[in-house]
Amino acid sequence: MTAYPYEVHEFDVVVVGAGGSGLRATLGMAEQGLRTACVTKVFPTRSHTVAAQGGIAASLGNMGPDNWQWHMYDTVKGSDWLGDMDAIEYLTRHAPKAVYELEHYGVPFSRTEEGRIYQRPFGGHTTEFGDGPPVQRTCAAADRTGHAILHTLYGQSLKEKAEFYIEYFAIDLLMAEDGTCNGVLAWKLDDGTLHVFAAKMTVLATGGYGRAYFSCTSAHTCTGDGGGMAARAGLPLQDMEFVQFHPTGIYGAGCLITEGARGEGGYLTNSEGERFMERYAPHYKDLASRDVVSRCMTIEIREGRGVGKNKDHLYLHLNHLPPEVLHERLPGISESAKIFAGVDLTRDPIPVLPTAHYNMGGIPTNPWGEVLNPTAGDPDAVHPGIMAVGEAGCASVHGANRLGSNSLIDLVVFGRAASIRAGQIIDKAAAVQRPTTHAIDKALDRFDRLRNADGGTPTAALRLEMQRTMQRDAGVFRTNESLADGVKNMTAVAAKLDDLKVTDRSLIWNSDLMETLELTNLMPNALATMVAAEARKESRGAHAHEDFPDRDDTNWRKHSLARVDGTGVRLDYRPVHITPPTPEAEGGISVEVIAPKVRVY
Ligand code: FUM
Repeated sequence: MTAYPYEVHEFDVVVVGAGGSGLRATLGMAEQGLRTACVTKVFPTRSHTVAAQGGIAASLGNMGPDNWQWHMYDTVKGSDWLGDMDAIEYLTRHAPKAVYELEHYGVPFSRTEEGRIYQRPFGGHTTEFGDGPPVQRTCAAADRTGHAILHTLYGQSLKEKAEFYIEYFAIDLLMAEDGTCNGVLAWKLDDGTLHVFAAKMTVLATGGYGRAYFSCTSAHTCTGDGGGMAARAGLPLQDMEFVQFHPTGIYGAGCLITEGARGEGGYLTNSEGERFMERYAPHYKDLASRDVVSRCMTIEIREGRGVGKNKDHLYLHLNHLPPEVLHERLPGISESAKIFAGVDLTRDPIPVLPTAHYNMGGIPTNPWGEVLNPTAGDPDAVHPGIMAVGEAGCASVHGANRLGSNSLIDLVVFGRAASIRAGQIIDKAAAVQRPTTHAIDKALDRFDRLRNADGGTPTAALRLEMQRTMQRDAGVFRTNESLADGVKNMTAVAAKLDDLKVTDRSLIWNSDLMETLELTNLMPNALATMVAAEARKESRGAHAHEDFPDRDDTNWRKHSLARVDGTGVRLDYRPVHITPPTPEAEGGISVEVIAPKVRVY
């Protein structure tokens, strides 16, 4: 192997990723006086959070009655009873405070006539523990809420003197002999230099792995880098079988049309002009939970009621809404519909199709962001030196299905929680433990092997093969047959990582090598998804198994854990936290109210 010189940087905390959760964690750490580095492969305000449209859920009650207990109930029901009660209670109780904090940091939320934060309805968010009408709980900055949050958090982090390492690609975690994470090795993309970030705490905030699918709403950068690094370090990935399909990706392009469009009064129709959601979800109709709407759309298409030449998509109507509502509340999607579908949405419906959107699964954590590495005797064992937040992590608040607008709130609540916890456990006066030469050499060795890979399979070809396999075999509906094929196919695809061909051997702006590193991260995420999906013999949330159409709480109300090693995946399970931490007598939610029941909307 060529010897690679590297520079060593020492910090209390290194955060990898600068999306909503990474920036909120960075800001919180820096506010407490922890020496904090944020290492990011793209400029912070280009992170995928910038694309989040519709809003951030919190029971502010600005538009009508609401409370955190209703929000908690909706989130548990949305998760199809796979979410952990402690994490969900933490999320929903702290959501209002986290949103007001954002407001005070400077997020330019849309306003009501009275000057309060504007809130819109979103799917699955209701009143009266699911018995009342939909609630307006999603706080919005028009349809560019993620953009507004990201810019504000970046500005605040700079003010607090967090140090940013921009366009640095994290290659691998650096683990000590005893397993403690001592930091990360990164490659500076613009000059080809290598950097060891030694830290007392490493926080993975690297986002999801949407790009494992052929059609997704995720940015090209969503390559599951945290999950890939964690898997290589021997850490498990949790609940990977649960992949969310957003009902309204633009047909063909895949880009997102926010659920806020239906929140503002938009509705779906089939080839007969029928508002078909009224048939499937008589109460909440187009505002049923996302997994439900995506399945109903898929059924409509399968049964021949799709629109267009190939009858393979559906229509989303907004043309009945007053133009001033579209202009004020939905300016971003008005533009996206024009650019990507050629549609003037004041006149015509938008062609839409369910599109891979979000990964409920990720690196398992407790509600403080600490990574869990369960042992036989302790399903909640914490792994030292490492945290995961945002879509990269799995706390698990979303369980088997996430409610729209619960993602942005997850980012800021748990980014903040991780910083509070880090403030408690990091000894600022202690010396930073340097990563071992063995750990650094191992990471450099993998980097060098990929840089010089000279097999017969170009990275782009293998990536496409993976994406098509995932789209075909682990889509909205799954069967025994599709999943068994999927495991066989994905194992064969993953084996081809040994035959990669990289043509550019340089170290500066080498997108061929960067995409190859990304592919080696996508692959363990994709493989874990397929294997965990094949094993789960029930239907729950986003995992719709046609041979096992019912939820099976007796056998399957448990989290899956996948440990990926090359093409092998070892599966294990850990219990769901089913008891809400705050008793009813102290204002918590009653155990009877939150108990599993049939999930209808
Ligand atoms: O539809 C949307 O605006 C997406 C929001 C989300 O995924 O939370």
